[in-house]
Amino acid sequence: MNVLVIGRGGREHSLVQKFAESHQVGRVFAAPGNAGMSQVAECIDTSEQDFDGLVAFAQESNVGLTVVGPENPLLAGLVDAFQEADLPVFGPTKAAALIEGSKHFAKQLMQEYEIPTAGYAAFSDVEAAQAYIKEKGAPIVVKADGLAAGKGVVVAESLDEALSAAEDMLKNGQFGDASREIVVEEFLAGEEFSLMAFVNGSNVYPMLPAKDHKRAFDGDQGPNTGGMGAFAPVQALNNSSYAFAVEEILKPVAAAMVAEGRSFTGILYAGLIETSEGPKVIEFNARFGDPETQVVLPLLENDLVQVMMDVLDGKKPDLTWSEGVCAGVVVASEGYPGAYEKGRPLPEVEVDDDGFVVHAGTAWEDGKYVSSGGRVLLIGSKGNDLAQALDRTYQSLHPFENQSDFFYRRDIGRSSVSSAASHADIE
Ligand code: AMP
Ligand code: GLY
Repeated sequence: MNVLVIGRGGREHSLVQKFAESHQVGRVFAAPGNAGMSQVAECIDTSEQDFDGLVAFAQESNVGLTVVGPENPLLAGLVDAFQEADLPVFGPTKAAALIEGSKHFAKQLMQEYEIPTAGYAAFSDVEAAQAYIKEKGAPIVVKADGLAAGKGVVVAESLDEALSAAEDMLKNGQFGDASREIVVEEFLAGEEFSLMAFVNGSNVYPMLPAKDHKRAFDGDQGPNTGGMGAFAPVQALNNSSYAFAVEEILKPVAAAMVAEGRSFTGILYAGLIETSEGPKVIEFNARFGDPETQVVLPLLENDLVQVMMDVLDGKKPDLTWSEGVCAGVVVASEGYPGAYEKGRPLPEVEVDDDGFVVHAGTAWEDGKYVSSGGRVLLIGSKGNDLAQALDRTYQSLHPFENQSDFFYRRDIGRSSVSSAASHADIE
């Protein structure tokens, strides 16, 4: 069978790597893909938004399964276009992707179906929003309703910061249509983790929990990014929290989507905070997380094509996870998430059998890889435990150590290693 992955980032590179391992896969295509992906896939020069082009390609090339990586084409109805053409596709329809596309919709759904999340109110009027913010006080969180490329959330430590965030979004149109409406929500304190699941209607098959690191710099300092590194599974998470997240969050929300006539098929991603009252939802995404996917998929022992076909057929997929831990650290262009230079040559990277390199923003020029995006690579490794996975990963990062064109966080997973170690000391 031929498969097609839509997207151009690290998440999609991981997907094509996994598909390329499958014995039942003939050709792997990526649209548009990236320089790294072209090592394992045939990259097609068709953009994620060219629905007619993608449908025609899938028909002509005998594609038996298409997987959509990013949120924008999902929200624009790419899955609907494939379904109308009777092409097998793994991902939510436009109606179902709204769980990511509108924070207000997601909050209403959670409130109505009693799914644990932060208390909130939604506003389109700036005065009303500011009155609510003053009544509640800081810290408080202000979110643009729609997609804002990961920049639409302000965790305000002061009242002034929250008031001006509301003004920027509602009055000054900071994110255009995406901030015509905002959600103002209670600040939740606790450890964050991500839980992704294969979903078809009310059937939910969870993956391992993962931890992303969203801030640009060590010690969780600096601006929010798309994610600077991740590891899985999150061993600090106790079993009852994991079970709670599956039973009281993912399963009820999948059932709620069915009840609302927005039955969800694809990957449902819950961004969660483990509060003193148990896990609560920060956000839902309608797709694989990036960089979580890059550290979760290497631990999956099953054929991912078979898993997705089973889920689409309404069957329970086999999900077997290897022992051990997988970690990954993002190499970013200096300046990211602000302005950065492109076209910088990348040094050679060596990894051992447990290690891997995932390309996010690279191009191939004059016989070498150069940078072409903010997040450039993710370098990762499996290990028997988190400390070993991280040691191997950081070994492979040495070529980037003194490169002024690139930077990476030196502390991915570190606080979790030390808390695991201190648990061991106590026991
Ligand atoms: P999001 O784009 O919704 O993932 O939010 C970006 C980041 O803002 C999250 O990863 C959290 O660190 C933080 N955040 C969002 N909502 C809350 C909340 N209610 N309480 C505390 N932190 C939050
Ligand atoms: N890692 C967060 C996301 O994919 O949205």
